[in-house]
Amino acid sequence: MRILCAESLRDRNTLALPATAEALAVVHGEEDLREAFAWAAARQLPVLPLGSGSNVVLSGNLKALVVCLATTGREILRQGDESIVLGVAAGEAWHPLVEWCLEQGYFGLENLALIPGTVGAAPIQNIGAYGVELQSFVERVHALRIDTGEPLVLSGQDCEFAYRDSVFKHRLRDALIITRVDLRLSRQPDVRADYPTLARALDQSGIGAPTPRDVFDAVVDIRSSRLPDPAREPNAGSFFKNPRLPIAAAQELAGRFPGLPLYPHGSGEAKLPAGWLIEHCGWKGYRDGAVGVHPQHALVIVNYGGGDGKAVLALAERIADSVSERFAVALEIEPRVYGG
Ligand code: FAD
Ligand code: EPU
Repeated sequence: MRILCAESLRDRNTLALPATAEALAVVHGEEDLREAFAWAAARQLPVLPLGSGSNVVLSGNLKALVVCLATTGREILRQGDESIVLGVAAGEAWHPLVEWCLEQGYFGLENLALIPGTVGAAPIQNIGAYGVELQSFVERVHALRIDTGEPLVLSGQDCEFAYRDSVFKHRLRDALIITRVDLRLSRQPDVRADYPTLARALDQSGIGAPTPRDVFDAVVDIRSSRLPDPAREPNAGSFFKNPRLPIAAAQELAGRFPGLPLYPHGSGEAKLPAGWLIEHCGWKGYRDGAVGVHPQHALVIVNYGGGDGKAVLALAERIADSVSERFAVALEIEPRVYGG
């Protein structure tokens, strides 16, 4: 394993923000990881795992050992007529895994097609899209503790998954590196197509009884038309989480702002689309120098070239302030912010 010093991270984050890692290690297995932990401990540097950098805002010189996992592997751990359990290395890319599972006849992940990033990062925010969240499939998460190098195995329940949330953002924040995720998938088609945008798209294509392939294709089409490709317009997907309010408060707000869509969320809460709130504060298509709000999706902040983490966060703060002023709703940033 080689450790590189003062390494640029610009090509390692999808917002293409300029930042440097005091040190960076590309690791190929658990032995490398333990070596990296010891190297960082000897220099009193924190260890910062980085996947594809599609959910981070980076800024300045990160005083850390940035660890990138280059591990690969998809292993069948158990299978029966109904289901199959796959152990997938954390360094694997997410979308190719979804595609491969569909081809093999391992069903369930179709709604999560085209989400950027690595398998190891997927449990951190419990990735979700089009009515499905990762938590439905996680059987185990395998990790190494950064302080001791000891292995740790968590069940799906231990992960405390919730909307864009998990134990890895709270009690176990910065404590471990995920090395493998075990996913239980269905051997029988398991179609979930009731998410409104998805249902509408399938309906418009005249598909009455969608197959998993139909769902996959529809999700890929919707995402390709709605979300900007970071390779051309650098971004981190949704910049804010969709806020949740008690149903009565959400209904009162919708009464005052006709057209505000409400989505039921668990018992007693409703989710509000942050994109709608931001658009109705006039931000859609706004541009301030190098950074701006995407003209087709108000929840996406774009670095049009030359923007830095400070500029992105300053714009995000102005957006959140205006939403708070107009709607009295607090927006929470979705990507993790490092440096500054
Ligand atoms: P990174 O951005 O590299 O890291 C994210 C966080 O996870 C960091 O705190 C990092 O330290 C930590 N981390 C990474 N790897 C590990 C590891 N092995 N062990 C421990 N911690 C780790 N998300 C959704 O949920 N749904 C979507 O529909 C969606 N759409 C997106 C669309 C676009 C265009 C973009 C750019 C992003 C989108 N995202 C979406 C966000 C993002 O793709 C996910 O959060 C993804 O899981 C991040 O993966 P990553 O490898 O890029 O993680
Ligand atoms: N909307 C607007 N204006 C906009 C954008 C959205 O009014 O500019 C409103 C519309 O009413 C629309 C609603 O917001 O119907 C929802 O929009 P969309 O279907 O695009 O979904 P979203 O709520 O903006 C969430 C996730 C996405 C995920 C999609 C599909 C969050 C924070 N974001 O977005 O995840 O792909 O649903 O399920 O929950 C990500 O996390 O990076 C991400 C892209």
